[in-house]
Amino acid sequence: MSKETMDRPPGPAEAFYPRPIELSGLRRDAVNVRDLGEGVEVVVVPGRERLHVFREICPHMGGPLTQATVCEDATLACPWHGYRFSLESGRLVDNPNERIMADLRRRAPACFKPENAPKYALTPLAYSLVGDRAYVHRKRGGA
Ligand code: FES
Repeated sequence: MSKETMDRPPGPAEAFYPRPIELSGLRRDAVNVRDLGEGVEVVVVPGRERLHVFREICPHMGGPLTQATVCEDATLACPWHGYRFSLESGRLVDNPNERIMADLRRRAPACFKPENAPKYALTPLAYSLVGDRAYVHRKRGGA
């Protein structure tokens, strides 16, 4: 692949955010913050087989995932309320408040029913690799 080809996204430029993610310098199993341009920041967690790329805003209440923690069970823990999301799927896998608040909720059953609580998930962003860069697709699910 020529140098010129590697400097372009693998498709129409408008299908991708303007700034690709440079693979060199990414810390493994850690939160890496990258600016894709146009005011869009993402967190990038390199896994064994692929990158996990998500918007930097927690879907619960907007916590800063730039300060999230990568846990040993391959989840991302939000710093605000501790929700843990699967790196693989983005799905919510643990809400520590369900355990912490369980006694209080039993005393006031009419106020809140956990089974009615909204469910949250991170949206994994698709990307295409070109050389040592990952071009992030604008459209969910990629091209
Ligand atoms: S804002 Fe992230 S867990 Fe509440």
